[in-house]
Amino acid sequence: MKTVMLVFGTRPDAVKMCPLLLELRSRDHFNTVALVTGQHRDMLDGVLRAFGVTPDYDLGVMREEQSLFDVTSRVLDGTRRVLSSVRPDAVLVHGDTTTAFAAALACFYENIPVCHVEAGLRTYDVRSPYPEEFNRRAVSLISRYDFAPTELARDNLIKEGKCAEDVFVTGNTVVDALHYTLRDEYTHPCLEWASGSRAVLLTMHRRESLGEPMREALRAVRAVAEAREDVKVIFPVHRNPAVRTAAHSVLDGCERVLLTEPLDVVDFHNIMVRAHLILTDSGSVQEEAAALGKPTIVLRDKTERQEGVASGVLLPVGTDFSSVTDALCDLFDNVGLYARMSASKNPFGNGEACRKIADVLDKIL
Ligand code: UD1
Ligand code: UDP
Repeated sequence: MKTVMLVFGTRPDAVKMCPLLLELRSRDHFNTVALVTGQHRDMLDGVLRAFGVTPDYDLGVMREEQSLFDVTSRVLDGTRRVLSSVRPDAVLVHGDTTTAFAAALACFYENIPVCHVEAGLRTYDVRSPYPEEFNRRAVSLISRYDFAPTELARDNLIKEGKCAEDVFVTGNTVVDALHYTLRDEYTHPCLEWASGSRAVLLTMHRRESLGEPMREALRAVRAVAEAREDVKVIFPVHRNPAVRTAAHSVLDGCERVLLTEPLDVVDFHNIMVRAHLILTDSGSVQEEAAALGKPTIVLRDKTERQEGVASGVLLPVGTDFSSVTDALCDLFDNVGLYARMSASKNPFGNGEACRKIADVLDKIL
């Protein structure tokens, strides 16, 4: 029996790896081991609970206000210890977090094959998003097999010299996750608070936006919410203290903006599908919005989710005050634009990514 180890540790990679873990665990011929790094703590644990997943190993690396040095060195060292006791036949890492980079590096040093899930996303600006563009490119140097969510991601990898037979286009596992979380009948206190208004769901946390860019975007949100009586903004605030400080200093006292704790993923997805529009700098939320056909203003200068821009559902505007207010007002007032964005086709697959990845692993291992 082949042993496959999945390594993840933040909220987004957990959302995207848990459905794959469940798929692999349902196949008796794999010995499937889950190592969570605990790069995130409560935000990771909530996702594990939502998917009913118990990890086999937990490195518990998170510290308040951790630096990239802290996360990299703890994940590298912790993964090394688990690898030497488990000796897996292959290790699956996800995307572009420091968990993925450091775990892949540990596998490289131990000569264990790495399979990269959500491979091939690129902005080709190593500083944006930071440090994620570096992380995912570094994983590509190490990975033996790549699971690309789209043809565009596959093409990026081929252009960089990866062998075409070792790159598989599967769709994004985030669509599989949505199949697991979405409910027909659903309500939540945040939705009740926003009922009768056009609800905007907002998230913001990127390192490159911390400080003035984030404050400027949030000031724009406040200005629009204060000017429009039919708009309410739901903002589940990331646990990063730098994000919390910015959110509270700019938005406290604005009665049409609700600052909440991070939402459980089942709640987040169900609120998303019922919101009027999304405002985000998140990577995964862009994919979820594209899969759901939910018009989304992207608070970034660059996005690696170009498929969503091409399909028409994502509108990248950066963080300037006037760009954000203009985009919001346009989307509220221009019915044709809103309808066109809502009608876009999902470019991230049909929810079969986990099955496809497991089928490939069956063949290659
Ligand atoms: C990380 C990822 C980023 C991803 C994001 C998802 C890296 C370099 N960055 O960024 O790609 O988009 O996760 O959210 O891997 N914290 C808590 N509780 C939690 C989680 C975080 O208190 O459950 C706080 C801690 O103070 C922590 C800080 O948030 O030090 C930052 O967490 P960290 O994982 O270092 O960076 P993120 O900005 O979350
Ligand atoms: N998410 C969540 N609760 C929230 C906000 C986001 O469960 O309050 C989910 C969201 O559905 C997506 C993931 O967390 O699956 C996105 O995580 P984040 O934006 O932190 O990271 P990124 O995708 O940018 O790396």
